[in-house]
Amino acid sequence: MKLENKSIGLAVTGSFCNFSEVKGVIDSLKAENVKKIIPIVSYSTRKFDTRFYNADEFIKMLEENTENKVIDSIVDAEVVGPKNLVDIILICPCTGNTLAKLANGITDTPVLMAVKGHIRNNKPVVIGVSTNDGLGKSLKNIAELIDTKNMYFIPFRQDDYSKKPKSLVLDYTYVIKTLEDAFDGKQIQPVLANRKVVM
Ligand SMILES: Cc1cc2nc3c(=O)[nH]c(=O)nc-3n(C[C@H](O)[C@H](O)[C@H](O)COP(=O)(O)O)c2cc1C
Repeated sequence: MKLENKSIGLAVTGSFCNFSEVKGVIDSLKAENVKKIIPIVSYSTRKFDTRFYNADEFIKMLEENTENKVIDSIVDAEVVGPKNLVDIILICPCTGNTLAKLANGITDTPVLMAVKGHIRNNKPVVIGVSTNDGLGKSLKNIAELIDTKNMYFIPFRQDDYSKKPKSLVLDYTYVIKTLEDAFDGKQIQPVLANRKVVM
């Protein structure tokens, strides 16, 4: 139970088709007896009503299940670093957009602000990538981040190589183990998930 008593920042960015997985992530963190889960959302997650979710309902789900208010502004996210608010940030799901900004030092969403403050404290960040251009334009950003101190990737795979040949998605079965290894300063291996998991 390496995650016991740890404070987790759960950062959710706008990969809306993955939102149905987020409650399961929260449940699996709770099963590890974490101390607290602080939800942090990008502006897209906070605002966009999509065919997958209504934004307000999704925020309500996050707040009810984590028993914490979401951090949904850059001003609120700024305290994550100075107050040492969490032990680790899990960006799950992480869009190609957030990956690109993270790899290039851009800080214009609450998630990116929280990560920026957090890594100045030399603490780990775990990334669960989900983007249709993972083997396209986003690949260089994955390369940049996978080779950056304190950044760890949840194993990922192609989710539909015939219809979306450049698409990558994290494998949710490895979320907990990736966090555990990240606390030990290790990237879980293999980072390429080689089997399709039916959830
Ligand atoms: C219905 C819908 C689904 C989307 N799914 C994804 C996705 O799975 N991965 C991704 O990288 N972007 C996806 N996007 C695009 C992002 O939401 C968009 O790039 C947004 O600017 C991301 O902002 P954020 O990274 O700050 O959350 C989707 C957009 C919509 C409307």
